[in-house]
Amino acid sequence: EIELSLRPRTLGEYIGQEKVKENMRVFIQAAKGRGEPLDHVLLYGPPGLGKTTLSGIIANEMNVNIRVTSGPAIEKPGDLAALLTNLAPNDILFIDEIHRLSRAVEEVLYPAMEDYALDIIIGKGPSARSIRIDLPHFTLIGATTRAGQLTSPLRDRFGVIQRLELYTADELCTIVRRSAGILGVECDPEGAFELARRSRGTPRVANRLLKRVRDFAQVMGDGRITKEIAAIALDRLEIDHLGLETTDRRMLETIIRNYAGGPVGLDTLAAAVGEEAITLEDVYEPYLMQLGFLARTPRGRCATALAYGHLGLKMPGEDAPGQ
Ligand code: ADE
Repeated sequence: EIELSLRPRTLGEYIGQEKVKENMRVFIQAAKGRGEPLDHVLLYGPPGLGKTTLSGIIANEMNVNIRVTSGPAIEKPGDLAALLTNLAPNDILFIDEIHRLSRAVEEVLYPAMEDYALDIIIGKGPSARSIRIDLPHFTLIGATTRAGQLTSPLRDRFGVIQRLELYTADELCTIVRRSAGILGVECDPEGAFELARRSRGTPRVANRLLKRVRDFAQVMGDGRITKEIAAIALDRLEIDHLGLETTDRRMLETIIRNYAGGPVGLDTLAAAVGEEAITLEDVYEPYLMQLGFLARTPRGRCATALAYGHLGLKMPGEDAPGQ
């Protein structure tokens, strides 16, 4: 599976997120030195930045197994109990979208994280009793796009909390060149950079676009990814020179045209562009805010002067489009 082979396997191969890597190196080395499992880790930040990849690397560096699951996949307390009782000592349980765990499942997780124990209730009514099952000492790695949505009892049980940031164009360029090497596609430095700066700070986007640009290079060129081929391919995919796609532009245009530049509430905006509010918040807003095109205010979202300029629109009271 190609997707898997693009994933780095060691911290040394993992590009970017320097602060997170340096911190994790220390925690991993210390835990290994003591022969203990790593403390529970919460990774948060926008989707596609490598939370799952980093968890696999942590397992690899700790020389332990990792079991991968997600909040919505753990439907009942028994599902979680089955996962936990099958771990070996020091193993990692990775729960993606951990903010989507049900309350009942979350309550099983508290004693598991804190005391490495499961409290099981047997029977019903007056004869019901609780028995405690000991678990192997394990590490929970939770991933979420929104740490703010975790309940505080859950958040408080993570000893390590790290936030992943959007990548710089230079970091994404390095990732694209590495991925091109793995895929066996020739890629000019300028071609890689063109792809990188249109990948909205996100390796998952960069690797997906690399495959599409490779298709254009193969069919319309000589197979080599040049700046020109990358630009043609990405224009055809309606990804502009800053990486904005149709939905980004629709969001900004809606705020500007329908709501006079804002503020407009998130739910109103989501209904107007036909997307879920959560999707706008998790997927689209982080990059628009990093570009300085979108501002969040207590009364809603606003388009900034930079956004007007990028779209070639005139701000109220302005004579010509700013740029
Ligand atoms: N592929 C996806 N994310 C990566 C990263 N941070 N470093 C290297 N390759 C990657």
